[in-house]
Amino acid sequence: MIPKVELHLHLEGAAPPEFIRRLADERRQRLVGVFDEDGAYRFTDFANFLAVYEAATSVLRTPADYHRLTLAVLERQAAEGVIYSEIFLSPDFCGGGDLGAWRDFLAAIREAATIAEDRWDTRMRGIVTCIRHLGPDVARRAALCAAETADDWLVGFGIAGEERRGTPGDFAYAFDMAREAKLGLTAHAGEWAGPDSVRAALDDLRVSRVGHGVRAIEDPALVDRLAEDGVVLEVCPGSNIALGLYPSWDRHPVARLHDKGVRVTLSTDDPPFFRTTISREYDRLAEAFGWDAAVFRSLNRTAAEAAFCDDATRAALLKLLEPEDD
Ligand code: HPA
Ligand code: ZN
Repeated sequence: MIPKVELHLHLEGAAPPEFIRRLADERRQRLVGVFDEDGAYRFTDFANFLAVYEAATSVLRTPADYHRLTLAVLERQAAEGVIYSEIFLSPDFCGGGDLGAWRDFLAAIREAATIAEDRWDTRMRGIVTCIRHLGPDVARRAALCAAETADDWLVGFGIAGEERRGTPGDFAYAFDMAREAKLGLTAHAGEWAGPDSVRAALDDLRVSRVGHGVRAIEDPALVDRLAEDGVVLEVCPGSNIALGLYPSWDRHPVARLHDKGVRVTLSTDDPPFFRTTISREYDRLAEAFGWDAAVFRSLNRTAAEAAFCDDATRAALLKLLEPEDD
């Protein structure tokens, strides 16, 4: 199996539906509109996906819940051959933005990550993400949580949520705080908003990576800028297709971006929601574009180079990504 580095994965979005159902049953909490008749997550479009995501997340209430969830997610990552995952964590879900509560949730998640690394030889680092549709003031609180807990494990800050709400510039203060705390920066952009949103993320938030960013393809000058500046895109093709952004794998722009010299990486975003796994993504891309193991190895090297971890960890990852028969 190809060793993989995944940079764009939402922790709650990686929760298997049966995990959420079991927890809801234990809590005697009724979840309405979250599952279809087969027990899979159901949603109609991106706005509805965000609502369903938040409903499912509402059953995760304690640090112990997040400990369980982190273990379940990392066990799957290891089974998929993922050697390193950067996972989005939200202080708004983990303690309602309160710094003291956030420290407790973070400690539980980190403890689970340590167990997973010992048990399954898969590594995790955390990226605090603010939630765009909750607005800049709430984002500032998330950034404070990130800045106060930044270290060699909590390595980044980002923004997710409803991309059509507000502008990246509205969140510049939160990103300035995170940058001062030496966190790596990434922003969801160029998925539901067009190329200008990618430009705004680069200019106003000064990110080195963009979550999705695929709609840059609509603007050749922006594609040139991404390639020249070495901006890394966290591309999640199956997510884009499941949410209707592109009609099929062969119409997805990831191959065109790659061909134009943009540094692309591959991730799954919220895999059980989009009925995908990282192995399935590789299989579909191999079918659609003829990509072979050498291409996937090079994309994983790009991901390791762009990871927000320290250089010793990066060197270890790059070593693990070397072909075995060399
Ligand atoms: N996109 C944007 N915001 C999100 C997502 C996503 O896939 N998952 C959770 N919040
Ligand atoms: Zn995402």
